[in-house]
Amino acid sequence: MPAPRPLGDVSGVQEGDVNQSPRRRRYVETQLDEASAAMVDADAELFLHQSLSTPCLDAIRRCEGIYLETASGRRLMDFHGNSAHQVGYGNPRVVEAIRRQLEELPFCPRRFTNRMAIDLARKLTSLAPKPLRKVLFAPSGAVAIGMAMKLARLSTGRHKTLSMWGAFHGATLEVASVGGEGLFRDGLGPLLPGAEHAHPPFPYRCVYGCGGACDLRCANYLDSVLASDHDIGALIAEPVRCTVVAPPPPGYWQQVREACDRHGVLLVFDEIPACLGRTGHMFACQAVGATPGVLGIGKGLGGGVVPLAAGVARGELRVAGGRAIRHYPPQKNPSRCAAPPAPTEGIEVVGLVGHPRRVGGPALWGLG
Ligand SMILES: Cc1ncc(COP(=O)(O)O)c(C=O)c1O
Repeated sequence: MPAPRPLGDVSGVQEGDVNQSPRRRRYVETQLDEASAAMVDADAELFLHQSLSTPCLDAIRRCEGIYLETASGRRLMDFHGNSAHQVGYGNPRVVEAIRRQLEELPFCPRRFTNRMAIDLARKLTSLAPKPLRKVLFAPSGAVAIGMAMKLARLSTGRHKTLSMWGAFHGATLEVASVGGEGLFRDGLGPLLPGAEHAHPPFPYRCVYGCGGACDLRCANYLDSVLASDHDIGALIAEPVRCTVVAPPPPGYWQQVREACDRHGVLLVFDEIPACLGRTGHMFACQAVGATPGVLGIGKGLGGGVVPLAAGVARGELRVAGGRAIRHYPPQKNPSRCAAPPAPTEGIEVVGLVGHPRRVGGPALWGLG
């Protein structure tokens, strides 16, 4: 077994991980007041260290709209928000809806249902593209994608998956296996067997050798993999990779969708961060013009307040009535289910869906 890395050794720090870097320590030492630095230190003392988390950058005392307010009173615009704050932090409609449910019906044990859960499922299936009609709630995006993996096995009778290098689908062992980021895979030993990977489409630096004149050989490659490996039951991918923000080439997903149909493979779209208006459409699959077999959504679904994710599946995937896909106590929790109607209505009513389209063009022009 390799010797554990000494604390403070940042060799191997990965992209995006400022928390393990000396820059974070310098920031704490030079920018924070004494009380905030003490909180960051207490956090580092009490929580297990891991990348992207502890040790922390700063402590906060308020969040509202697009702003975080640090414990020392600095206001920060949060452009990241863990992709959870489509309708802003502390959205009054979300907070009020949750508060009301906490008072009316704080819990709903499994085997019972309630109005909030039904209304939310109805709302999601009415917003999603037509064949997506069945819902399962999950406590996190990773669990939602894990449920889709089980559905793929049960509905196709095949156990293998095809997914993308560089992708992230969550940090549990099963989804780290289909993910393609070293940060979540390295050093864990054997991952889930049968998790095959391909390179994603990336118009700026295409590894399929199209030399800038895209002829969709990236999609043809996936087709050829599916044609040659009949144990693959699911193709799992983000329709638009949220951290790279390079849209796939036009026609890519339509071609992959057809290949999945031809080869009997369940297409699973992971829109955990990209759902609910971020692409200028309610769902990213609508932006790329291809409907998956299972749509994984999360993050902002909880209104920036509660943890909530869901899988929305085609009706014919009702194949596991006698088996357990995933149960957990607050599955149809009324106060969690109270959070999303406000964001979804807010997104529809306030016209947030069109907003990225209106500001995206000028923003890209400005960045260019
Ligand atoms: C694309 C994608 N899928 C899945 C997840 C996992 O979601 P969660 O952290 O809720 O498990 C994330 C989280 O960042 C994500 O970005």
